[in-house]
Amino acid sequence: MPRATADLLTPALLVDVDRARRNLARMQEYCTGHRLALRPHVKTHKLPLFAREQLARGAAGITCQKLGEAEVMVDAGCDDILLSYEVVGERNLLRLGALARRCRLATIADSRAVVDGLAWAAARAGVDLPVLVDGDAGYGRTGIAAPHDAVALAEAVASTPGLRFAGLFTYPTLSGTRDWLRQALQGLARSGLAAPVVSSGGTPGALATHEVPEITELRVGTYIYNDRTMVRRGAAAPEDCALSVLATVISAHAADRVILDAGSKALTSDLVQHEAALGHGDVLGYPGALVGRLYEEHAVCDMRACAALPRVGDRVRVVPNHACAAVNLYDEVALVRGDEVLDILPVAARGRSR
Ligand SMILES: Cc1ncc(COP(=O)(O)O)c(C=O)c1O
Repeated sequence: MPRATADLLTPALLVDVDRARRNLARMQEYCTGHRLALRPHVKTHKLPLFAREQLARGAAGITCQKLGEAEVMVDAGCDDILLSYEVVGERNLLRLGALARRCRLATIADSRAVVDGLAWAAARAGVDLPVLVDGDAGYGRTGIAAPHDAVALAEAVASTPGLRFAGLFTYPTLSGTRDWLRQALQGLARSGLAAPVVSSGGTPGALATHEVPEITELRVGTYIYNDRTMVRRGAAAPEDCALSVLATVISAHAADRVILDAGSKALTSDLVQHEAALGHGDVLGYPGALVGRLYEEHAVCDMRACAALPRVGDRVRVVPNHACAAVNLYDEVALVRGDEVLDILPVAARGRSR
C-alpha cells in the first residue's frame, strides 16, 4: 500500500481523517445538546467504517437512500436503517422485505401506490414495517405538499395491516417546514395519531434544526466531508472540507492555464446550482484558480488570478463542488493525514444506485 500521497496514482480521492472525525464529533455534539436523534445519511461517504463510527459516537441509526446502499450497510453490521426513498416495483419491494427481515428498517411513502406496495412487501416478508409519511414543505421533489393530504396518507398507513405509521419525514428543512409540520401534527392529533419521529435533514441548515422544535431526528450526510457548495452556502469553513481529489498537472503551455488529469469522471460536472462561471472545484494552494472547463479526463484551469502556477508533474488537491457525487466515482478512497496515507478503503456502497 502506498504510504504517501506522492505514491498514489491520480486522480485519487483523499479523505483527511482528522477533519472528517472533527466534523462527526461536532454534529453529534450539536444533536446530543439539543436532544435530537442523529441519523446520518451514508450516501455521502458510502463506507462501513464511517457508518460504524457514526453509530459508536451516538447516532440513533443510519439513513440510506437506495436499497443497494442499505444492503451493503446491513452486510457491514448496521442494524437500524431508514430508507429515505419511495420504493416502487416488485423486485425492489422483495428486496425491501428481505432487508426488513435482517435489520430494523423503516421507510417512507408519499402516495397510496407506494403504501400499497409496502403493504404487499411487508405481507410477503412477514414483517411489520414502520412507514414515515413524506411531506414537501416547499422543495418540490418527493413528498405531499398539503399537510391534510399527508394526514390522510398517515391514516391509510395506520389502518393497513403489516404497516405502522412511524411519523413524518421532510427534506430539506426550509423556512416553511415549521408551518407544514405544525399543520400536519395538528391534523394527526385530530385523527388520534401520534408521530413518534419527525425526521428532517440537510447539512446546510443542520445547525438551526433546534429552531424547528417539532423535528426529533436529523438526517445529514455531507457534514462528514463538506464540499465547496457547503463553504459557498456558509455551512462550513474551508478547513472543514475533509474530501479532495488529488490531481496531476499534465500540461501547462499558456502563462495563465494549466490542465489537470481530473475531468468530469474525477470531479463530476455537478454544479449544484452554481453557475458554470463559478467552476468545478477549489484548487488548494492556488486561490483564484478557476476549474473552468471539464472534459471527461481533463480539467482546464484558468490561472489568471493566481500569483504562481504549478508545473507539469506537480500535484494539487481539488475540493469538489459536491462531495457525495464525487465519492460515487471512486472504487477506493485514501484516508490521509497531511501527506501520509493511513489506509486505502474500498468505497463499498459506491455505484449502488439501485
Ligand atoms: C432525503 C435526504 N435526506 C437527507 C439528506 C442529507 O443531506 P445533506 O447531504 O445535505 O446532509 C439527503 C441528501 O441528499 C436526502 O436526499
